[in-house]
Amino acid sequence: MNHFHLRRGALHCEDVPLERLAREVGTPTYVYSTATLVRHLTVLQQAFAQTPALLCYSVKASSNLAILKLLADRGAGFDIVSAGELGRVVEAGGEPRRVVFSGVGKRDDELELALRLGILQFNVESAEELTRLDAVARRLKMRAPFALRVNPGVDAKTHRYIATALRTSKFGVPFEEAVGLYKKSRQLKGLLARGLDCHIGSQLTDTRPVREAIGKVADLYRGLQRLGLPLTHLDVGGGLGVTYTTERPPGLEEYARAVREPLRGLDATLVLEPGRVLVGNAGVLLTRVLYRKKTPARRFLIVDAGMNDLLRPALYEAHHEVRPVRPRKGARSKWDVVGPVCESSDVLGHQRAFPPLSPGDCLAVMTAGAYGMSMASTYNSRPRPAEVLVDGSRYRVVRARETLEDLWRGETP
Ligand code: LLP
Repeated sequence: MNHFHLRRGALHCEDVPLERLAREVGTPTYVYSTATLVRHLTVLQQAFAQTPALLCYSVKASSNLAILKLLADRGAGFDIVSAGELGRVVEAGGEPRRVVFSGVGKRDDELELALRLGILQFNVESAEELTRLDAVARRLKMRAPFALRVNPGVDAKTHRYIATALRTSKFGVPFEEAVGLYKKSRQLKGLLARGLDCHIGSQLTDTRPVREAIGKVADLYRGLQRLGLPLTHLDVGGGLGVTYTTERPPGLEEYARAVREPLRGLDATLVLEPGRVLVGNAGVLLTRVLYRKKTPARRFLIVDAGMNDLLRPALYEAHHEVRPVRPRKGARSKWDVVGPVCESSDVLGHQRAFPPLSPGDCLAVMTAGAYGMSMASTYNSRPRPAEVLVDGSRYRVVRARETLEDLWRGETP
């Protein structure tokens, strides 16, 4: 469900024609729909309404302050992986006590900042991180609430770059080591065992690995409680997929059942870390056709957005639907939609069929709200796109397009 639709022959975001945004804000631009975001959050909150649960939006999916504020205002917490993301949450008005801190490589200064701000829990990913967290907390005369992120060793059946719970993965501590580490943590006066955590991967479309992982983690949680550890939070990570092409991810209700059922009777507050499912189809990347080029082998539509703006197709061979913003009548032909970046992998879409298009026409790269702008770079010294948030018939530029000066800020010739 999203709020990008054709109305009177033109693609709109809610009540705003995308052509108008291209004219007034320029291209490339990320465009987000408030109604879509709010709807996803509300449906997810409702799906977990009977369970004590804290929804911690995974900031890495899309980290614009306006999006964070929108979610914070509606009760969301946040899953962060860096001081930068924590700073964004605070700047957007999010509450630190609703923040969980994930990631395999937290620096001392990041641990310290999060401790001082009083976050809910550190999701610790190695034995060495656990002792480091203890040391930093003791130096500050504080106690750090932590959960161990365990690797339940299940195959999430997703792209190998975004599966995180295979036995060969860098994430989490091996399942077998968890009990020993929790026992050891009792001797470490800077630590307070608060929870248990796992995250098996992203763009999940099958609930079976979710059930399997959560079942294992729930058993471990019960075992740890029996040992007398004062655990109160079970964090099941994020990962629910969205539809880019033909995927059929479970609906939010079905996902909620797959998470809740293995937890039946468990005395815990559930923590969820959804990213993509909240913002994925709430955003598109708006771009313009610069040139058409025909070679003996191919037809290319050269557009003004490239792999620096949206990396997913180049990095994961991800498929994003590309739609003309004002489709014309006429015979369709197939084109490779490519960006201006000097790399052969700078292809936003292979062999896509379009009705007639001319230079200056706008295209929308769909379902680009998650891991779009947040993975954008300035490669080829291309300023990053603007971001716009639509609400009904109004819109706001929530991040200005970078300028050329922004590109070399901080550099010395
Ligand atoms: N929690 C943890 C610990 C994570 O590592 C992630 C994502 C999430 C939550 C949120 O997962 P989500 O609900 O969005 O699937 N750049 C890739 C996705 C990388 C995901 C990294 N971790 C992509 O564009 O597909």
